[in-house]
Amino acid sequence: MILSSHKWGHTWAVLLAAGSGTRLADACGGRRKQFMEFQGLPLFWHSARTFARVVAIKGLVFVFPPEEIEACAAQVRALDAANSLGLPWLAVAGGARRQDSVRNGLAALPRDCGHVLVHDSARPFMSASLVQRICVALEAGAQSVIPALAVTDTIKRVTGGLDGGRVAETLLREELAAVQTPQGFDLALLRQAHERAETEDWQVTDDASLMELAGGEVRVVPGEACNVKITNPEDLRLLEEQAMPEVSVTGFGYDVHRYAHAAENPKQPARPMVLGTVPIPGAPEVLAHSDGDVLLHALTDAVLGCLGKGDIGTHFPDTDKAWDNAASSLLLSEVLLLARREGLRLMHVDLTVIAQVPKLAPHREEIRKSVANLLGLPAAMVNVKATTEEGLGFTGRREGIKAVALVTGLRRLP
Ligand code: CTP
Ligand code: MG
Repeated sequence: MILSSHKWGHTWAVLLAAGSGTRLADACGGRRKQFMEFQGLPLFWHSARTFARVVAIKGLVFVFPPEEIEACAAQVRALDAANSLGLPWLAVAGGARRQDSVRNGLAALPRDCGHVLVHDSARPFMSASLVQRICVALEAGAQSVIPALAVTDTIKRVTGGLDGGRVAETLLREELAAVQTPQGFDLALLRQAHERAETEDWQVTDDASLMELAGGEVRVVPGEACNVKITNPEDLRLLEEQAMPEVSVTGFGYDVHRYAHAAENPKQPARPMVLGTVPIPGAPEVLAHSDGDVLLHALTDAVLGCLGKGDIGTHFPDTDKAWDNAASSLLLSEVLLLARREGLRLMHVDLTVIAQVPKLAPHREEIRKSVANLLGLPAAMVNVKATTEEGLGFTGRREGIKAVALVTGLRRLP
């Protein structure tokens, strides 16, 4: 092989999406796997976006099935218009075998391209740092660089098939590596290797194999366990589980009620104090349209905070007679229903009641259990605190009571 390595030139990526996905065809209803959607975007587009995040990558060649090339190019144009890659790109038709598709991709690369990364679009989880690792090794002078992982299984060579065949040999595990894409190459060398594959009829499943057959040196860098190739029906689970990731959300709630004895011309009725539905005997009466459970009002607002859906006033306005005298637990259960519909799972609640009077320590445990019950959470995931404000402010003057609530939960990204 003639070594005519380019030490100059840009690095482009060839993204293979021209396979027929036969091992997955039944499970995908005949649709080719690279066009399946993951997080609302076709599989091949995920790798394209990852390449676009690496500064060293200067352009992309998409390789699509020949019979769908027009439609695929239109799809890339639309995706790029919606969220630009910020890179030049081309779309070309693939061939019958993977290596034919690579060849077509290489033929489309621009003249100033010196290095190329070849990637299977069936590996949508490749990270930008893996791409970066490959680019750095190429820039440092490597002819070929591939990501490799140690194998955990003992690997045997088997003849006569897996059902009833025979073991011919057990391979030395320490020397084995499972290799992935993207695989990076000096473009001129890879082109030469593909030429020889044509003339000498080499059949391979990755590009590094061609470089090996051509006598070139192939270096390895650490691969990534997450960089799996969606190949068999059981791999589809990876797409489902991650399709709608749950994110942690936090909601804050705050509410105040005035004590009846401190109001001159009260506009609301006086109510016996309840906190988290627990009656507090001997406590000052509070003014409220509803039952005046300041703690549940703060909690309800915090749940709405997790949902990004306004506050208790927008959902249950004072002006709506339907909510006059309503039990706060009813308002909370309405909001919890909404939470369930929106896919929010409450995880933890931290509540603080701030009042000079009454003393709340004796009621804390009961309130905690009651709130846990209302939310369907274990009591260990609910905390109730009480504090005074050292005689300061309206609570210090015993004119009212306030409560704050912090709710954490998990919610599916919309
Ligand atoms: N590929 C390609 N052109 C081909 C064959 C494969 O561009 N003629 C691409 C596939 O789209 C895939 C990658 O090469 O992204 C790896 O191939 P593989 O996982 O084998 O995909 P398919 O060949 O599509 O699947 P199968 O082997 O199950 O038919
Ligand atoms: Mg294949």
